[in-house]
Amino acid sequence: MKVLAGISQLATCRGHGRQGDIHTIPDAALVWDEGTIKWVGPEAELPSEFRDSERLDAGGRLVIPGLVDCHTHLAFAGWRADEFEQRILGRSYLEIARSGGGIASTVRHTRAASEQQLTERATGFLEEMLALGITTVECKSGYGLDLDAELKLLRVYRRLAAEQPVRIVSTFLGAHIVPAEFRDDPDAYVTLLIERMIPAVGQEKLAACCDVFVEESAFSPAQARRILTAGRRAGLGAKLHADQLSGCGGAELAAEVGALSADHLEHISDRGIAAMAAAAVVAVSLPLASLYLQQPPMPARRLIQAGVPVAVASDFNPGSAPSYHLPLAMTLACTLQSMTPAEALKGATVYAARAVGMEDLTGSLEAGKAADFAIIDAPDVNHWLYHFRPNACVRTVIAGRTKWSSPVFDATRTG
Ligand code: NIG
Ligand code: FE
Repeated sequence: MKVLAGISQLATCRGHGRQGDIHTIPDAALVWDEGTIKWVGPEAELPSEFRDSERLDAGGRLVIPGLVDCHTHLAFAGWRADEFEQRILGRSYLEIARSGGGIASTVRHTRAASEQQLTERATGFLEEMLALGITTVECKSGYGLDLDAELKLLRVYRRLAAEQPVRIVSTFLGAHIVPAEFRDDPDAYVTLLIERMIPAVGQEKLAACCDVFVEESAFSPAQARRILTAGRRAGLGAKLHADQLSGCGGAELAAEVGALSADHLEHISDRGIAAMAAAAVVAVSLPLASLYLQQPPMPARRLIQAGVPVAVASDFNPGSAPSYHLPLAMTLACTLQSMTPAEALKGATVYAARAVGMEDLTGSLEAGKAADFAIIDAPDVNHWLYHFRPNACVRTVIAGRTKWSSPVFDATRTG
């Protein structure tokens, strides 16, 4: 049994209530045993049975649930810094893609890379994410786009899940774009996805979810419906990249198929918002992608007003969002989307866990859930996201064990 005391504010982020209800406790204590939370409440009310347990002191800091980055394309080879410069000079993301750059360029590099190379690189990314207080990461395939290369990416994620501490949720995104070799017959690629690739992923239990990029330049809603239905048959929850570059009914389709989430939604329609609210689909906001593509972001306030839970994620990938700094994405959700810091935090914890089907395990601090949390060097949530720093996290704990601790600022002590 362990007790963390000296917490200035503890944001439990329990799932019920509205987006801004993060159910904070001032001057709190947190008790856990064997990786599971036993008690959360005001330190003054700590039950006597826990008073002699091993004690840690948060030093008057903020404690939050471990952050959940519910949308990343973590494993890929190569970078695309040249495209970053081209977009600044005025070329659009789609123009670059049409001339063989964009996703197709990362596919060429990723196909050529070994499982070992991809694993080592992604391990480095995860180490830095862990230091930011991130304890769960959703990882998409989608830069292989043939059976072997897609399975290779998903096996990288399986290895990462076994070999490093951050919890991993894998998503099959074979339907990212139509690969060059199927350009003249995109439906043949859809058939390959449905008849070969998805069943293979299901059989090896290599993914929890299936995602489709629904967009004029990628897959139509009709193709996506077939792909997600095949995913469902193979036991994979549905997710969509929807209404990112144009509005094409992606949000409506997410509601129709009962998706866990619809992500991006920069161009969502009013009908799409109503449909997602009625079907309780999580909207995943990706403000780093909007920022890098110089687009207006998802209209988060309108979604929140309609009662849609809004998650916030990084979208880390080498094109539209080459950063995995989730706290930065959260501050951007505040400044670009008028989400309050509390709303952004609920979006990067319990709603993010819901978006990847992990809400029963992680994403909030309450008895019975995993002891996944971060100690943040700020007095409260507002102060944390307002005073943006390279890293305000001083300790990251997963399943009750400290997995990262700041060498510089961690004044926490046992005793
Ligand atoms: O989420 N929209 C599609 N996929 C990624 C971009 C991937 C890339 O550019 O490599 C996204 O923004
Ligand atoms: Fe994405």
